[in-house]
Amino acid sequence: MFKRHRRLRVNKNMRNLVRDVYLDADDLVYPLFIEEGTDIKSEIPSMPGIYRYSVDRLKEELDEVQSLGIKTLLLFGIPKHKDNTASEAYNEHGIVQEAVRYIKKEYPDFLVITDVCNCEYTDHGHCGILDENGYVLNDVTLELLGKTAVSHAKAGADIIAPSDMMDGRIEKIREELDKNGFENIPVMSYAVKFSSAFYGPFRDAADSAPKFGDRKSYQMDYRAEFDVLSEACEDIKQGADMIIVKPALAYLDLIAKIKRECNVPIVAYSVSGEYSMVKAAAQNGWIDEKGVVMEKIYAMKRAGAGIIITYYAKDIAEWLREEKK
Ligand code: PBG
Repeated sequence: MFKRHRRLRVNKNMRNLVRDVYLDADDLVYPLFIEEGTDIKSEIPSMPGIYRYSVDRLKEELDEVQSLGIKTLLLFGIPKHKDNTASEAYNEHGIVQEAVRYIKKEYPDFLVITDVCNCEYTDHGHCGILDENGYVLNDVTLELLGKTAVSHAKAGADIIAPSDMMDGRIEKIREELDKNGFENIPVMSYAVKFSSAFYGPFRDAADSAPKFGDRKSYQMDYRAEFDVLSEACEDIKQGADMIIVKPALAYLDLIAKIKRECNVPIVAYSVSGEYSMVKAAAQNGWIDEKGVVMEKIYAMKRAGAGIIITYYAKDIAEWLREEKK
């Protein structure tokens, strides 16, 4: 006797009854690019539908995001001034700090995550301070990250997300946050972050491409699987409350692996290149956009990610709502 799998697929209500992977607007994090200046709403050419906003124009975007039931934002800043010490990253009145203040004042219900890194703030585009050979100095950079994290928390950030990939940054940031009275602010670590070609469109969006070389001396090598649990466990040991795997789509095996080994919420970051690939194919009429997006986001959940950072968050929230009807 063979098994009749099709019994449980017979109609929509049956399929909805037996399914065991869930996705909800609560799980979604929507990234926002915020540019210093006024009256800015400019579309990112390689990411159709995604815009850079100045703080004074954020309202139109935030109203929509809120009405769709999305609760969590991830902020990236694009400063006017860049230098070799990333001074705008930890300026109390820098672009991210001002954006956080605005959002927490006007929309106190949003959970605001801030990306802590230096690449958008350095004139050379690397994630830290360089030595004379162009090597990113680890321990010197930690000082800047600590200052940046505290300035974000002071502005009102709810969660701090360091993405620089320096060693020891979670310990340093945790220590600085605690010292300044922010012991209740969680750290969401980009613990498993690969040196990836999938970040291409983001670097246009955030104007953060390195002016020379690449990020291979600090971001992970996708051929080095031994490093994965080592990075994740180390960050948890140093105090990370949540772990990001980034990119997501090509790394579902690692999400599953970390899910088995670590007892923290796992975040999948479906990065800019993942968005642009789907968007471009959809605009050409080559694929069904909703179908492909939902299939891949459910795959991230099935792999073990509870939280999904995606540029498709607004569309997904809308599609989930339609399905409920
Ligand atoms: C900052 C940072 C990057 C991304 C998130 N934070 C770029 C990078 O590491 O080069 C990429 C996000 C995306 O591609 O959507 N370091």
